[in-house]
Amino acid sequence: MLLFKYFASHRSGLAALIMITLLFVACTAERSSTAVPEPGEVEGQKSFTNWSEAEMATLQALWLGNLPPLPPDPSNAYADDPRAAELGQRFFFDTRFSANGQVSCATCHQANNVFTDSLPQAQAIGSTKRHTPSISGMAYSPWFFWDGRRDSQWAQALTPMENAVEHGGTRTQYAHLVAEDDGYRAAYEEIFGPLPDLSDRSRFPDSAGPVEDTGLRAAWDGMAPADRVLVNQVYANIGKAIAAYERQINPGPSRFDAYVDALLDGDEVSLAESLNPDEVAGLRLFIGRGNCTQCHNGPLFTNNGFHSIGVPDPAGQPPDIGRFGGVQLVVKDEFNCQGSYSDAVAEDCEELRFVKMFGEELMNAFKVPSLRNVAETAPYMHVGQFRSLGEVLDHYNQAPAGLGPTGHTDLIPLGFTQIELDQLEAFLRTLSGPLNIDPELLETPE
Ligand code: HEC
Ligand code: HEC
Repeated sequence: MLLFKYFASHRSGLAALIMITLLFVACTAERSSTAVPEPGEVEGQKSFTNWSEAEMATLQALWLGNLPPLPPDPSNAYADDPRAAELGQRFFFDTRFSANGQVSCATCHQANNVFTDSLPQAQAIGSTKRHTPSISGMAYSPWFFWDGRRDSQWAQALTPMENAVEHGGTRTQYAHLVAEDDGYRAAYEEIFGPLPDLSDRSRFPDSAGPVEDTGLRAAWDGMAPADRVLVNQVYANIGKAIAAYERQINPGPSRFDAYVDALLDGDEVSLAESLNPDEVAGLRLFIGRGNCTQCHNGPLFTNNGFHSIGVPDPAGQPPDIGRFGGVQLVVKDEFNCQGSYSDAVAEDCEELRFVKMFGEELMNAFKVPSLRNVAETAPYMHVGQFRSLGEVLDHYNQAPAGLGPTGHTDLIPLGFTQIELDQLEAFLRTLSGPLNIDPELLETPE
């Protein structure tokens, strides 16, 4: 039933809505004619089914069945090309895309670990300043990184590859790799057309790029502008292939979704089997007094926005201004939606063109993460400041003043009892489920 409704909702939002309404009516009608206790008669039973119309609408909005089809990415003409996705899958797991031959995307985004790494701050060639987010469901996101300094999955993918503490290599090195590996060359040319002739090492050094290392940067600056464009084109296509692969990584139904499904079906047995009374009480707090859905809403439990919630900077690390800095970087990124390597036309780039550039609310604001599979992605927040969900909820309970001179925070203290905090945590743990991904995509292809 879940699957059926899931696909129905994909085909036509309206048809799904009508069906949901009918099912809900059927469910309420059926309930009144069975021996289920009246609301209030048995405390546990009441909390299982007694949702108002407005609450039902909120639950349906959070339900995975409400997830729309993958949004198109006009900046990436290859986003939905299966050949690009397969090549991107190879790139994602290939440690040759690094300075030391040991780092791939999968070093930090581990397929068997919800595509994250369990560390507070990511480690590869060196140590990064931020925590590795899961990449599941990322194709739905308009902005990438905790500060949103990239505006597409493909532009995002190019960033760690040249970061000195992550992959640590350069775009010229990677272009040579694709050109010189027979399998890569053939697959690349079939998808993107002929590779430029990069064999003249006096024009195309082994390793050169606009990176931190002064030698590699000087080698890049020394190249002819037209040659730099040729390399950038190959580099952008590497990112576009990786993005095509990443689009296939999405969350699957959790116990919470089974619960909403049972509510919509009026299936009392599945209802009782899906969530226990504490979890339902936690759900009530999540959408009610906890005010969590102000930011964690929609089927991915995120509003895709940036908020300052006063998570302290770790000791010894300089202040992180978050979105305030990220927005300046995304408009300058040569690989953004409006740049010459993008396949989009200007009208496709509304988000970027009309992005809010200044404002106090951007200061120390970070991207609202999805809460799907959150029980498996500890530690939490942009630098993994909190080790457990319990610590996260203590933070929300107190809602300390924000950082910096203004002390701005978008939170108000919850003042929940320990029992309520435990119920909220129990609910968050119901958001786990196997990823909706073909098992063959979890490792490098044969
Ligand atoms: C050294 C570990 C490491 C490696 C290697 C790495 N990442 Fe990441 N990834 C991170 C960290 C840390 C962040 C968050 C950084 C930030 O916000 O500044 C991140 C962010 C992302 C995001 C954005 C998620 C969001 O919530 O917006 C995506 C997508 C992603 N990485 C994909 C990739 C791809 C594709 C590769 C390979 C080309 C890769 N990563 C390589 C650690 C890594
Ligand atoms: C004003 C917006 C806002 C509200 C309200 C809000 N959150 Fe968040 N949430 C965020 C942001 C932003 C982050 C990331 C902050 C950071 O990294 O510094 C976050 C992070 C989290 C995380 C960590 C996820 C991860 O992968 O690191 C959890 C868990 C969480 N929120 C749960 C909740 C719960 C439960 C509530 C209700 C009690 C709630 N949030 C209310 C904005 C909000």
